[in-house]
Amino acid sequence: MSNGADLLRMNRRTACGGLLAGLAMGLASAPAISQVLPKVVGKSFRLDSPHATYAFGVNERGQLQSLYWGAPLAAGDPLPPAIAAKELSSNELASTMTPFEFAGFGGGLTTEPALKVTLPDGTRDLELRYVDHRIEAGALIIHLRDITTAIDVHLRYAMDQSTGLVIRSAVVENNTRDWIQVDQLAAGNINLPAAEDYRLHYLAGRWSAEWQLQSRAVTPGSTVIESRRGVTSHQANPWLAIGRDDVAEESGAVWFAALGWSGSWRMTVDRDAIGAVRASAGYNPFDFSYRLRPGETLASPNLYLGFSGDGFGGASRLFHRYQRAEILPGVGHVRPRPVLYNSWEATQFDVTEAGQIALAEKAASIGCERFVMDDGWFGARDSDKAGLGDWTVNRRKFPNGLGPLIRRVKALGMDFGLWVEPEMVNPDSDLYRAHPDWVINFPGRPRTEARQQLVLNLARRDVCDHILTLLDKLLTENDIAFIKWDHNRNWSEPGWPEAAPAEQQKIYVDYVDNLYALIAELRRRHPRVEIESCASGGGRVDLGIMRLTDQVWVSDNTDPYDRMSIQDGFSRAYTPAIMMAWVTDSPNWVNKRSTPLDYRFLSSMQGALGIGANLHHWTAEDFATARAMIAAYKRIRSTVQQGDLYRLLPARKEGDRSATLSVSPDRRQAALFAFTRSTTMRETAMPVTLLGLDPARRYAMTLIAGEVAPGTPAQASGAFWMGRGVDFVMTGDFRGCAVRFDAV
Ligand code: GLA
Repeated sequence: MSNGADLLRMNRRTACGGLLAGLAMGLASAPAISQVLPKVVGKSFRLDSPHATYAFGVNERGQLQSLYWGAPLAAGDPLPPAIAAKELSSNELASTMTPFEFAGFGGGLTTEPALKVTLPDGTRDLELRYVDHRIEAGALIIHLRDITTAIDVHLRYAMDQSTGLVIRSAVVENNTRDWIQVDQLAAGNINLPAAEDYRLHYLAGRWSAEWQLQSRAVTPGSTVIESRRGVTSHQANPWLAIGRDDVAEESGAVWFAALGWSGSWRMTVDRDAIGAVRASAGYNPFDFSYRLRPGETLASPNLYLGFSGDGFGGASRLFHRYQRAEILPGVGHVRPRPVLYNSWEATQFDVTEAGQIALAEKAASIGCERFVMDDGWFGARDSDKAGLGDWTVNRRKFPNGLGPLIRRVKALGMDFGLWVEPEMVNPDSDLYRAHPDWVINFPGRPRTEARQQLVLNLARRDVCDHILTLLDKLLTENDIAFIKWDHNRNWSEPGWPEAAPAEQQKIYVDYVDNLYALIAELRRRHPRVEIESCASGGGRVDLGIMRLTDQVWVSDNTDPYDRMSIQDGFSRAYTPAIMMAWVTDSPNWVNKRSTPLDYRFLSSMQGALGIGANLHHWTAEDFATARAMIAAYKRIRSTVQQGDLYRLLPARKEGDRSATLSVSPDRRQAALFAFTRSTTMRETAMPVTLLGLDPARRYAMTLIAGEVAPGTPAQASGAFWMGRGVDFVMTGDFRGCAVRFDAV
């Protein structure tokens, strides 16, 4: 038997060899966190932080069952005993009644298993029992084994001291003498305290309409949120929150969960026959199987679990803090996002050296710090019909390569970024003509195209090596500070013909593991290059990819009003520190809505600001507005990106008003934004009271844009701003105001 400890440290491994061989996979696996020391009393285990307590124990049958998860308990408080459940009726067996931490499908289990396996003789029964535990690098490792077969499971639990986040994962190890097939693997089961009135909140949408907050009562039955698409997806995001009926933005108990996985995933929330509310999260078992030879292992993705007693706002502030401190590249020292210019909406595929330089000069004049050339610079890429896969500079558009453009951008005081979509190929490309076998496909079956492109099979070593070589060359030969890594379609015909039929479904895991390994290796070779995760907008945002990328593209929908409900939903789960938001042209290309330029700026200034407008269409007045707004943004940037977010008036689709407030970690600065879609009935003032300031400190108020009511003091205490607040004066359509508060 191999050492489970090593497995858990590695946690993820790669099928990619060649250039990627020997790569340390730590980046995509075990979090480097300030962990709490687990307490072990007999066979009960307890993780405590100032924000939450998480406890479980071994019952007299040797099964691992949940004991408590919620608000922090006092040190001396007793835990409920781990007592095996009794059969309730001949239809509700003990296995159905037990709140398992990690249930194997077997022994009559009718609730959702975390692990289901098939053995070579057809047996599909797994009953996991506690073997032993150990504490390693602050994490608690529980070893379980099946009652008759040498199938071992190592569960890893770690709790982050400063947020109470619990990070869970599981490794299945085949110690039999034959293969076993994993049909289903989750990071674990989750059990909530008994209550009748839970509501589930999650994020759903589609291309250009991502991140819409959904809410539904947890009634008897199951809710499944998932991606079957090979990628995280726009349709649903692997994050959910569960609260009692009365939870509000800033009050009430909220339990939340997020899965760090960028492939097909599934989360389930069930209210079962006995009224218990349980959840699970892991690989999507749809069309899934993973065969393990003797000695082989399969690791689940990391599952992040959090609790807050301060409503949805408290929950997201905890999670944002954790992401900045423990997930994002540069952990603990996350670099502020530069104000960038991106050429996509301005030029589409029509990029040339002269055209890009002309835009760069204007972008620099308003204060942009990074110039990003988007699609169209390579191969025969004049439209989305051709060229993907051929990552050589188009010499018609750039006769002297990228050098002259990059030098000019740098002389203008900006750094240079470039768009790539390395996982894709157009059938009309030299790469596809040379390697038609490199795409995901079933032999002899149609290859369904989306945007005229197919997906390269990153589960293959040769494909990974090819992509790594070309990106390495691009970054070595050119002074590139940033790449926007796109992924513009979901999978279809998910075949891997070169693998044995029984191994082909490993593609769902091996592709993503290799993608992580590829990006990690690229970062290792080019440590100063920053990366954005983009997938036709917000199709690949999750804690797996966030460990390797510095920022994310949230949506192709850049309409500033639509964006506010999109950004509100995004912020439920993910930090504004990575939330790219561009100011683009009006009317907007998505919905033809016209909005004033200052409104567009204020909408985007709630995240990481970018400009995507065609600057050749701007007036002198527009340039003056942009210059002032970008300068104002730079003064609040670290507060917006690294501070605590309060959704004072959450933005909703079709909603009239919204307001957000960001407060710096030291509470010395705050940035407040308020918006109206349309004032009616002669409404004039919009009163907003703040949160999170130091009541005893005095803060000076500076107007960034818009108007405040006459008589608003220039300085007052935190208590005043939180008690009396500010009255914004807003009349008309698509109006916005913003103010900055600085401690004096
Ligand atoms: C995707 C991205 C856009 C842009 C285009 C380029 O749609 O989301 O921002 O980069 O691809 O083809």
